[in-house]
Amino acid sequence: MKTFENYSLLNNNTFGVDVKANYFIEYDSVDELQSLLRSDLLQESKFMHIGGGSNLLFINDYQGVILHSQIKGIDAVEGTRSKVVLRAGAGERWDDFVEYCVSKNYGGVENLSGIPGEVGATPVQNIGAYGAEVRNSIVAVECVNTKTGEERIFTAKECQFGYRDSIFKRELKGKYIVTYVHYQLCKTGWTPNVDYGSLKTEIHDAEHATLKDVRNAVLTIRSRKLPEPKVLGNAGSFFMNPVVSTAKYGEIKLKFPDIPCYIVSDTEVKVPAGWLIEQCGWKGKSVGKVAVHGSQALVLINKGGANGLDIINLSDSIRASVRDKFGIDLTPEVNIIFG
Ligand code: EPU
Repeated sequence: MKTFENYSLLNNNTFGVDVKANYFIEYDSVDELQSLLRSDLLQESKFMHIGGGSNLLFINDYQGVILHSQIKGIDAVEGTRSKVVLRAGAGERWDDFVEYCVSKNYGGVENLSGIPGEVGATPVQNIGAYGAEVRNSIVAVECVNTKTGEERIFTAKECQFGYRDSIFKRELKGKYIVTYVHYQLCKTGWTPNVDYGSLKTEIHDAEHATLKDVRNAVLTIRSRKLPEPKVLGNAGSFFMNPVVSTAKYGEIKLKFPDIPCYIVSDTEVKVPAGWLIEQCGWKGKSVGKVAVHGSQALVLINKGGANGLDIINLSDSIRASVRDKFGIDLTPEVNIIFG
């Protein structure tokens, strides 16, 4: 276990915001986490847990303890001729896990290549990209209760996954810490899932595509559209794609016939927030030290030295424009921490 006092979080949030936490503690095992939770420091302080910091925006210094998992390891815990279940430590880098699966020829998570962050965060916000969501692979999530220290295993059903959502973001927010995630992958019978618009275009021979081809295509598209956080601070999509009623969508379409959508149900559609933001003239626009990315309007970037308030102010201006023009409220996807 490692404990740091008065710790700069600059390298622990991909927005590259320079804030401090009173304490930053990294633990290596479930036992260490349980003893930490019983310690006077944690009993007496406010605390939060972070993963790779790729979906976080700190507005102020954090007056408390930040926990970070260093629980590592990827092990096969179950297997049949056609399937395998891998148990991965919450502190593993997500993309290392995807690369491992692809190298072993285990199919299921390759569309989620290149997503920043760590294994422990994947069930919390049900990461998704290019026509896949991690809920389709997760079979169980091992957790520790932050109050009692007790271990509990959640089945996929108990996680109540939704679009960028799970029970860990709602009723159980702050109540459990993820320690291991179990993913079920295909050993045989895998077929590529390349229906998503830009992926279809990138893969020329979908019928013969291998896991590696899909991974490479996804990495190529991502590098074209999404800025590399080490170069330009960002947290991927800043907003969620809003879900609106089909009736409301119909009304907006009368005025804006090109408005795209994805069908969610008989009564609801999802509208790409990037399109709405672009239509309001924000794509590529800079305001002081922050900007809207020029290749994907859903991504806000720190051009260098911005603080959390600069980013929130830009986000508020964008939300106001989208509300005025389309009558749609955008909800941040990024977790905003006021400190
Ligand atoms: N679009 C625009 N202008 C833009 C961006 C997008 O008009 O500047 C429109 C286009 O119509 C495009 C459509 O939006 O066809 C969809 O764009 P894209 O494929 O880039 O996907 P997205 O809906 O903007 C979502 C996820 C991304 C994920 C991509 C690819 C959310 C909030 N975002 O973005 O996830 O990588 O799909 O699957 O659901 C993240 O969560 O951090 C993230 C990057």
